[in-house]
Amino acid sequence: MRNKLIAGNWKMQGSLAGNPVLLNAVATGVATLPAVSFAVLVPFPYLVQARDYLSGTSCAWGAQDVSEENSGAYTGEVAVSMLSDLGCRYVIVGHSERRARHGESDERVAAKAWRALEGGVTPIVCVGETLSERETGQTLAVVYRQLDAVMQRLGPGLLAKTVLAYEPVWAIGTGRSATPEQAQEVHAALRARVAQADAIVSSGLQILYGGSVKPGNAIELMRLPDVDGALVGGASLVAGDFLGIGQAAASA
Ligand code: PGA
Repeated sequence: MRNKLIAGNWKMQGSLAGNPVLLNAVATGVATLPAVSFAVLVPFPYLVQARDYLSGTSCAWGAQDVSEENSGAYTGEVAVSMLSDLGCRYVIVGHSERRARHGESDERVAAKAWRALEGGVTPIVCVGETLSERETGQTLAVVYRQLDAVMQRLGPGLLAKTVLAYEPVWAIGTGRSATPEQAQEVHAALRARVAQADAIVSSGLQILYGGSVKPGNAIELMRLPDVDGALVGGASLVAGDFLGIGQAAASA
């Protein structure tokens, strides 16, 4: 039985003055939903604040990217040791916004996942197809290619320590979530792909769905057999919505 994880991706949003209201509400709310795991993935400058407000609660915190390098002359990059210094449990790697805007290749995403694990931080590895890839029937080929790069780099033993997130690019920030059928099809396919390498790892692997998840569509998504939680963007900035998705996961 896989636990459900609801992870909030704040993206490039928030402010030092405004964050405490959201963090306090999340800290209070998650205490009422003990069966679900929660995390918030905040911009680097707010990691200390997230730690200060969430320590001792059941909501973990983490970052949205990490360098594949250990340390050294890498201007602007952040090392996994810095994330673990700040108590991060998770880091997103390979989000489509970084793949698209920063040209992150499948191999680089895999290297980041490996580095995160080496530093003791759990990578949430994102995969997903664009609209044109879906419309031309390439969905599974694309997500397999993205997953295979990570499986090759990590091997089954380390893959077991990661979280996977299926985020169709066309569903991110658009208000147009994947249908339950579309989500389940890809989640099951990803799990089957992992099973070809290792059946035990496959059955334990948490696979989150992301892309316009809201309280209103969360119940049907969280009930799907191969969906083990959500990676939530916009709705994670509104405490009631984020916790509402957690409530849906708890009752699914
Ligand atoms: P969204 O973003 O919930 O705003 O669609 C999800 C994500 O990009 O992780």
